[in-house]
Amino acid sequence: MSIKDKIWQKQSLEKYLAKDNQFIKSMNAFDLMALGIGAVIGTGIFILPGTVAALKAGPGIMLSFVVAAIVCSLAAMCYAEFSSAMPIAGSAYSYGNVIFGELIGWILGWALILEYMLAVAAVSTGFSAYFSSLLQGFGLAIPKIFSGPFDPAHGTYINLVAIIIVWLITWLLSQGMQQSVRVNNLMVIVKISIIIIFLVVGVFYVKPANWHPFLPFGKIGILQGASTVFFAYLGFDAVSSSAAEVKNPQRNMPIGIIGTLLVATALYILVAVVLTGMVSFRELDVANPVAFALQKVGQNWTAGIISLGALAGMFTMMVTMIYSSSRLIYSIGRDGLLPKFLGQLQGKHHLPQHSLLVVTVIISFLGGLVPLDQLTSLVNIGTLVAFTFVSIGIIPLRKHTEIQHDGFHVPWSPVLPIISAIACIGLMLTLSLETWIASLIWFVIGLGIYFSYGIRHENIS
Ligand code: ALA
Repeated sequence: MSIKDKIWQKQSLEKYLAKDNQFIKSMNAFDLMALGIGAVIGTGIFILPGTVAALKAGPGIMLSFVVAAIVCSLAAMCYAEFSSAMPIAGSAYSYGNVIFGELIGWILGWALILEYMLAVAAVSTGFSAYFSSLLQGFGLAIPKIFSGPFDPAHGTYINLVAIIIVWLITWLLSQGMQQSVRVNNLMVIVKISIIIIFLVVGVFYVKPANWHPFLPFGKIGILQGASTVFFAYLGFDAVSSSAAEVKNPQRNMPIGIIGTLLVATALYILVAVVLTGMVSFRELDVANPVAFALQKVGQNWTAGIISLGALAGMFTMMVTMIYSSSRLIYSIGRDGLLPKFLGQLQGKHHLPQHSLLVVTVIISFLGGLVPLDQLTSLVNIGTLVAFTFVSIGIIPLRKHTEIQHDGFHVPWSPVLPIISAIACIGLMLTLSLETWIASLIWFVIGLGIYFSYGIRHENIS
C-alpha cells in the first residue's frame, strides 16, 4: 500500500467495537454526569470569575460564561452524537480514524494527549499550592525544596504533593472503575455542595450597585472574557472516552455529556452573578476570588470551606482526566500507532494498566519537575483542534450508511456542526502567537513519531 493510501485508510467501526468489547460495561448516566462534572468543574470556577471580571469583562463576565457555554454546547452536541453512534474508547482519536482516516486520527489523538496530560499536570500543581496553604493554616509547612518544580535558583527541586496526589489517583483507578466511580461521585457531591453553600451565603451580601458599570471594558470584553473562561468548561469531552464502559451508550452518553454542560453552565453563571454582586469587580484580581469575597463580607469560616471545595474539585478533575488519558493511550496502542503493550487490558478488572502507568509517569514528571506557567494555554488549543474536527466530522458521519444509530442526533445538521467548527476556529484565533508556535512544535513532533514509528507498526486494517 502506498504511503498516501495508508495515511487516509479508515478503520472499521466493527473492529473497534470487537476490540473494546473486553471492557466491563458498568457505568450509568448518573456516573457519567458525575465523571463529567468531576472533570469540568475544577479550578476554573474558583479563580476565573474573579480575575476575568477584574481584567477583561467586569460584571459582564456572566455573559462571557453564556457565550463560552454556547460554543461548548455546540461541540458537546457533536460529541454526544459521535459517542452514541460509536461507543468506543479513544474519543476524537477513534472518531477521526473511522471518519477521516489514520493521519487525522493520529493528529487528533496527539492533540488530546496534549490537552489531558498538560491539564492534569497543571491542576496537580494547583492542588499542591492549595494543600500547602491549608497545612499552613494548621501551622504546618512542606519544606521549600519539595514545594515546586526543578528550579534550584529559587530553592525548589521537586513538587512532592503534586506527584503524590497523581499516584494516589492512579492507585485508585487501578482498583477498577466501580471503586473509582464511587470515590469520584462522593467528591463531586462535596464540591457541588460547597459551591451551593457559597451561593446561598453570598446572595445575602449582594449589592446591585456592584453590577454598575456592567460593561466597563465595552462589549468586546464579553468576548475576550469568553475565550478565557472557556477553560472552565473543558473536560466534558473526556466523558466520551468512557463510551466502551457504559451501559446503553446510545441513551446514556448524550445525557452524560449534555447534562454535564448544563449543570456546569448554571453553576458558573450563578457564581459569576453572586461574586460580582458581593464585591466590586475592581477588587477581584486575586488568586482566590471566591474565598476573598467571603472574607471581605466577614464570612471567614465559609471562606475556609471554599478551600476544601477547591481541593475536591481539583481531585475529581484529575481522576477523570488521568482516566481519560489512559483510555486514549490504550486506544492508540491498540491500533499499533504507539507500542502495542500500551493497547492491552490486564488483571481481573480488565483495565489498561500499562497505559495508566505510562500516563502517570509522564504527568507526574511534568507536574513534579517542569515549570508549567507558560504551557497551560496549550491545553486550550489542543482541545479546540479536537472540537473543530469532531464538529465538522458530523457531516461525513451521517454519510456512513453502515453506521446507523437511533441515539442522539445534532439538530439542524449541517448548519450547527459548521457553526460549531467556525466558533472553535474563532476562539483559536484569539490565542497568542507563542501558543500557536508552541503547539506547532508539538504537532511537528507528533508527525515525526507517526512517520517514523506509527505508520510502520499500525495494525488498523
Ligand atoms: N474545566 C477544568 C477546570 O476548570 C479544566 O479546572
